Amino acid sequence: MEWKDSLSVGVIKFDAQHKQLVKLVDDLHRGIREEKGKYDIGAILDKLLEYTSKHFLAEEMDMIAYGYDEYEEHKKEHDDLKLQVKEFYSNYYSGDIVLKDDIMNFVVEWLKEHIAKTDKKYGPFFNSKGLK
Ligand SMILES: [Fe+2]
Ligand SMILES: [Fe+2]
Repeated sequence: MEWKDSLSVGVIKFDAQHKQLVKLVDDLHRGIREEKGKYDIGAILDKLLEYTSKHFLAEEMDMIAYGYDEYEEHKKEHDDLKLQVKEFYSNYYSGDIVLKDDIMNFVVEWLKEHIAKTDKKYGPFFNSKGLK
């Protein structure tokens, strides 16, 4: 997955965080492609999960602080996504699934979808509050 300007949400710090997320997904992709061991892939998954949680929280805090009226729906999407990634994560560790392209595609798709649709919507709102 590559970063494209079309993914920009118009808020500098969130663009920076999204770039970092894209990078972590890329690391995961590479790890799978290079058939790295469970330990290495697990470490990348750890980072991805941690960074995703941190990023979601950062967005949610600003939505609350600035009174964004689509906060509830946005947070629900975050919660669903976190749950799904956690599920992959525990299935992966318990050996029930092998991380392959289908799972990667899922992660990439939701990330792109969420940034390009749901996150993008808050851009003009935050901008109007002076957050650029
Ligand atoms: Fe985001
Ligand atoms: Fe978001």
